[in-house]
Amino acid sequence: MMQNLSKQSYEKHTASTRDQRMGWWREARFGMFIHYGLYSQLGRNEWAIALENIPIAEYETLAQSFQPKPGAAREWAALAQKAGMKYLVLTTRHHEGFSLWDSQVNPYNSVNYGPKRDLVREFVDACREFGLGIGFYSSLMDWHHPDGWRCAFDTAARARFNKYIRDLNTELLTNYGKIDILWYDVAFPMESWEGWDSLELNKHMRSLQPDLLINDRSHLAEDFGTPEEHLTSSDRDWEACMTFNGISWGYVDGKQAAAYSYNAQRILKMLCTCAKDGGNLLLNIGPTPDGSVPQEAIEPLTTVGNWLKENGQAVYGKLVKSKGWREKPFGGNGVCETTSKGKSVYLWCWIWPDGEMGIGGYLKAPKAVRLLKDGTPLEFEHRGQRILLKNLPKTIPDKQAGVTVIELEFDETPQYLFASYYPQLQFGTDITGGKRL
Ligand code: GLC
Repeated sequence: MMQNLSKQSYEKHTASTRDQRMGWWREARFGMFIHYGLYSQLGRNEWAIALENIPIAEYETLAQSFQPKPGAAREWAALAQKAGMKYLVLTTRHHEGFSLWDSQVNPYNSVNYGPKRDLVREFVDACREFGLGIGFYSSLMDWHHPDGWRCAFDTAARARFNKYIRDLNTELLTNYGKIDILWYDVAFPMESWEGWDSLELNKHMRSLQPDLLINDRSHLAEDFGTPEEHLTSSDRDWEACMTFNGISWGYVDGKQAAAYSYNAQRILKMLCTCAKDGGNLLLNIGPTPDGSVPQEAIEPLTTVGNWLKENGQAVYGKLVKSKGWREKPFGGNGVCETTSKGKSVYLWCWIWPDGEMGIGGYLKAPKAVRLLKDGTPLEFEHRGQRILLKNLPKTIPDKQAGVTVIELEFDETPQYLFASYYPQLQFGTDITGGKRL
């Protein structure tokens, strides 16, 4: 029924169903990105063929030596679940053009070469076994297909290539049951939605999977933005995709990349930023050549998952979206960040104060103040617009990741008022004070 919609009508239609389609995704908050392909065998980034100018014939030999171990996808899904991640996005076909599924459209695939297995099928089965959402990353740019470059200059080549892309994604969204997310990447060398026929392509994708979420990388805004390697909020749904090591999406030797890789505390800092600013975190792993989870990701993600078991209330679900330092509805102080949901404000403390700390901007006293992880009550006093936390534990209570969450529970939806930064002014005074000189 979407087939005949104009771009404007299509976007109006998808906007009208977005809240219903994205409810689970917004509350999920945290997902795992998985970059796995022929490039994983090189261990020099997923762009190796392009940046090292490897001839295609030489690169194609990797298709024969590609040997993912049995159960690799279960390993990814098991770690994701243990980490508190709620969905996975797998590179079903990266820029190298090699399909990880039994494609009738693209013979350069993991059933005809290498493992002679349908890895997408294994991925989907593993996601369902562990109760996780299913996302397919699908590159538009293709360095293997003969029309992959000339499609930008030759109308017949463009027609052939756009049909190829449509047919690939039709296979993916037809043959594997319910798929939750279609994650396009690099809409190049055509540089417009018209060039990619993205409107007709996405209408077709949505006709195959009516609840599908589509990202913003087919030159149409679609359902969510995808800041890459940065955590930048926006006035729409957004998901920050982050490498684990700041260098490469595809496998690189973790021991050498250790200085860049994240520990649990850094991952939680990213998760806090996404949670308070209304976004999701899609954190990447680049499995080793045989598909194993990279060693450097295991301990941090396991610790994050254990931490989330105790403190997930401050991360998952319908959180209030911050609007920046001045308007953000819930302030912390100089040593904590805040997220908020319902009648509670959560203070994320990376730096544990020595015995006491205050929080300004709250006219109403909280009903209760406690450690979120185990409900230990904390002593507090409310004076004017200040909440004073007193006689705090001498050492930081969280022993897992060094991040303690304090819950301020109120009788009603908490109100935070931007307090004047000028102590000279009594709280609540008109902080503008008239026209600036
Ligand atoms: C960039 C890279 C690509 C990677 C993607 C992840 O587009 O080119 O290799 O898969 O980022 O968002």
